[in-house]
Amino acid sequence: MKSFSKLILLFSFIILTGFNFPICKDNPTHDIDKLIKKMTLKQKVGQMTQLNLDVISVGEIFNLKEPHQLDSAKLRKALVEYGVGSILNVGGHAYSLEHWNSIIKEIQSVATKETNLRIPVLYGIDAIHGANYLLNGTLFPQPLAQAATFNPVMVEKAAQMTAYETRASGIPWNFSPVLDVARQPLWSRVFETYGEDVYVCKRMGVATIQGYQGKDASDPYRVSSCMKHFLGYSWSFTGKDRTSSYIPDIQLREYFLPTFEAAIDAGSLSVMINSGDVNGIPVHANKSLLTDLLRNELGFDGVAVTDWEDIIKLYQFHKVASSLKEAVKMAINAGIDMSMVPNDYQFSDLLLELVEEGEVPMERIDESVKRILLMKKRLGLFDNPFTPDSHSYPLVASDSFSNHSYKIASEAITLLKNNDQVLPLSNDQKIFCTGPMAHSLTMINGSWSRTWQGTDPVWDDQSKNTILEALRTNFSNVSFEQGCDFDSFQNIEAAIQKAKNSDIILACMGEYPSTEKPGDIHSLEMERAQLDYIKELSTLGKPIILVLVQNRTRIIREIEPLCSAIIMAYQPSENGSLAVADILNGKVNPSGKLPVTYPRNVNSLLLYDHRYTDELNIDFGLEAFNPQYEFGHGLSYTNFNYSDLNVNVDSTKQQIHIQVKVTNTGTLDGKETVLAFVSDNTASVAPSVKRLRYFEKSMISSGETKLLDFSIDWSDLAFVNANGKWIREKGSYTITIGSLTQNIYF
Ligand code: BGC
Repeated sequence: MKSFSKLILLFSFIILTGFNFPICKDNPTHDIDKLIKKMTLKQKVGQMTQLNLDVISVGEIFNLKEPHQLDSAKLRKALVEYGVGSILNVGGHAYSLEHWNSIIKEIQSVATKETNLRIPVLYGIDAIHGANYLLNGTLFPQPLAQAATFNPVMVEKAAQMTAYETRASGIPWNFSPVLDVARQPLWSRVFETYGEDVYVCKRMGVATIQGYQGKDASDPYRVSSCMKHFLGYSWSFTGKDRTSSYIPDIQLREYFLPTFEAAIDAGSLSVMINSGDVNGIPVHANKSLLTDLLRNELGFDGVAVTDWEDIIKLYQFHKVASSLKEAVKMAINAGIDMSMVPNDYQFSDLLLELVEEGEVPMERIDESVKRILLMKKRLGLFDNPFTPDSHSYPLVASDSFSNHSYKIASEAITLLKNNDQVLPLSNDQKIFCTGPMAHSLTMINGSWSRTWQGTDPVWDDQSKNTILEALRTNFSNVSFEQGCDFDSFQNIEAAIQKAKNSDIILACMGEYPSTEKPGDIHSLEMERAQLDYIKELSTLGKPIILVLVQNRTRIIREIEPLCSAIIMAYQPSENGSLAVADILNGKVNPSGKLPVTYPRNVNSLLLYDHRYTDELNIDFGLEAFNPQYEFGHGLSYTNFNYSDLNVNVDSTKQQIHIQVKVTNTGTLDGKETVLAFVSDNTASVAPSVKRLRYFEKSMISSGETKLLDFSIDWSDLAFVNANGKWIREKGSYTITIGSLTQNIYF
């Protein structure tokens, strides 16, 4: 009788709550297939739906009630009625760890206790330079700065720390890294990339993915990466965000695809799609990119999520669909798995109708649902949908994390110019610190810092230092006046007076933080007020040190000759201001190198790996490639001398074996990145003048000579030919390291 009542209890439990299908570890797809068989169509399209946190919160969308609270009725509508599979974002600004934990707990409790299938929700966030939506989360320098370190080990460690703080918040999915190669210097998202070179982007991208995911993304200290934005997003013709790219197949494969291929090999679990169009076809509706290329050719089996409202945009902006319903059909049939809808239920309703009407096949739906459930499984969400006890995350916002952020900044910051060794400064010099970037945390953090655009100083962590404050910890005589902002002078008389009373002018200039559409610009030139202000200061005859804090390489041609030293600080973050100060006073010997070409003229935005027809040839009247600073440029306070380049072709291993000696001939220890370029001297597709094929950074003590010994695979010299195939042709190649060159012949 006892056991009979137990049986009845068990049955009533199953009937009331549904059965929690145990997902077997050994064969995850087997159990997921079983689970899919139990799902209604509504539950399936629910899994493919991703909603903004606003939709389930108290208040209006984009105008939530403060302090933030989940709305229990809206939450149940999303999870119980619609079976929504994923939630994203933050309600306007960063939250505390405790608040994140309570949000995730409430969401997962409803999903796993009040639905019959108990499928956990996949929460996604943009933690693009640290856990930037976690109050007190560690902000690292922006990705472009991280690339300037040429130190993938450091970058991987930062990604691991980001994963740690993101999981501590209960969030297992990070919409990062940006693997778009920054081939368009005007683009508002250059700072989110790893620069203009394919090889650097590949190495940094892979390091980031490894840091996020580790060996097993279900680890409670790891998260899933999301490589984005597939494909061709960063080469819009106009430079404006989310607009048309025109990319021939050769270029698409040569410059834009390799980072994604490398990320797939590194095991990235998801991909986000480019909001723009390539050759007139919006990528969200492009089956040949999303299915033929991504799935059939590259074999990617993870989740493809749209970008923000991008299915709606097929209809409203791209105008390739005559209704929202047609847009849903186009996108899902092209290969989208999950729609970042994100503010209503129309996607779910319309997709359900489309399947019932036979316009979208059930197999297409099952395929996407399987990928989504598999990702949840791979993240361990079926076993533990909640944040593990927050006490298991003692390192959140720890000194060790912010120290690592500082270290990245100190290896990223790039010394572009240092006439007469004006730097480092000595402690007894009177410094006049000025400019809009000098005394602002907002400016050094950049976008994606506690808010989307990162421009509201209310969210600045006042315990951190601005550049001015950091300077004052290092130098005893520092005066300050902002002097100008982006469009006008400010208190100019006081500024000039203070400048007159100083030995050195430290001008911190750059660009107001922005990303995506708000970051679109009409000219790459630095804003006029800043240029004019520097000109004004230069009449005083004091050495000017220009510190650049900016989203992208704003053109400084007019003022460059007026500055004795120039430092590219990128957006070093609130932990990076100390690194700026430590470089100025010589505690840190700079070792960053430009991961982008710094252009000189607004209409000559050529990159380092341009073709021979773009080379400067003044005799011939060809004013072409003549940048302000070359890709890979970066000075040190010591000198490095390269010698004994020795290149051998190893036919057995199909490798090029390279040795080179680097001697630190100066009096200071320093780090040097050796960049190995290869030029294909003749090829059936007009070759680049050179391509970076390898880099390595090492510490070299004063007086020390280091032998660098490395190999490049023959296959790395291949290029995409006229038939869209990677080939390596016979002929001669030149290896260039520093000013040394050697030819080889295959
Ligand atoms: C951006 C994506 C981001 C998404 C979610 C979009 O506007 O383009 O990069 O991941 O928003 O916040």
